[in-house]
Amino acid sequence: MNDIISPDQIAIRQPDDWHVHLRDGDMLRSVATYTARQFARAIVMPNLSPPVTDTASAVAYRDRILSAASDHGHFTPLMTCYLTDSSDAEDMAQGFQSGVFTAAKLYPANATTNSAHGVTDVANIMPVLERMQKMGMPLLIHGEVTDADVDVFDREAVFIERILSKLVDQLPDLKVVFEHITTADAVDFVNGSGANVGATITPQHLHINRNAMFQGGIRPHAYCLPVAKRERHRLALRKAATSGSAKYFLGTDSAPHEIHAKESACGCAGIFNAPYALESYATIFDEEGALDKLEGFASIHGPQFYGLPLNEGIVTLQRSKIIVPENIAAGGATIVPFHAGQELGWQIVG
Ligand code: DOR
Ligand code: ZN
Repeated sequence: MNDIISPDQIAIRQPDDWHVHLRDGDMLRSVATYTARQFARAIVMPNLSPPVTDTASAVAYRDRILSAASDHGHFTPLMTCYLTDSSDAEDMAQGFQSGVFTAAKLYPANATTNSAHGVTDVANIMPVLERMQKMGMPLLIHGEVTDADVDVFDREAVFIERILSKLVDQLPDLKVVFEHITTADAVDFVNGSGANVGATITPQHLHINRNAMFQGGIRPHAYCLPVAKRERHRLALRKAATSGSAKYFLGTDSAPHEIHAKESACGCAGIFNAPYALESYATIFDEEGALDKLEGFASIHGPQFYGLPLNEGIVTLQRSKIIVPENIAAGGATIVPFHAGQELGWQIVG
């Protein structure tokens, strides 16, 4: 596998997306197909309004996703349970054991979009986390503190210091995915932790540094959370993603918002990268001279971490310039995709 067929063509096992926002209603019906046409499985984030906090709402949401992605019959959404201060440990455990939930998501309260119901203090969910550790249920973490006195660019590093390092010490066997890491500090933390701690990395955090938000003016489509950081952090992430380490795997954090919700006096956080996600990652791996590491990152490390089988299908990418459209129609609405109007170096051909 991971056949480099020629310098200009590569075939890899079909990848999965270990972190995606598919939304609901019209938006879900518009965006699900972009994820389902590239990925066999996807870890679906539960930050709907209201959030997906119990097994029954996860089953209903999964049905809506399957119906929205019905053109891609092979696609499997993997559901997550949104943790709150008053999470029902029994329901969550039953949901995991019956195969409805693949993992649970920890949003610190008010850290990001639809996180108002998130956890105000990790101490409040300790019994739930202990139960997850016992069952082998992965904890997916949005790793940012929310304190007003902590600079927005430091929130991930401070989260590691104040919360994550302690949590991992207290629950040494808990499977933890540090989601959408953005800093060299996070790379150091993950590298220094056991095999039970992994991380997802988005395409945007590999492509852009924080200058992208201010290039010739304010650029709302480059804004997501955690926010892009300095160049040295981007370089550390590129090194980690292309290192071949089994701790790092693909998670797009594709997070669509309608154009008017981004281009606003108070624009939403989120980058919609689903339409060209694999092409975007392949371009990075090529630039790093690491195309031979793409399959591990995109298709092997994730299932291994989650204890799931590898996909059987094959995706072939070819070196070929493609221009990403300026806009994507989403039902009656418009979404601006990541790389809008720009060129990418790889194309999916089969
Ligand atoms: O940029 C982001 N958008 N980060 C998140 O954590 C949430 C996401 C969303 O749901 O829009
Ligand atoms: Zn996310």
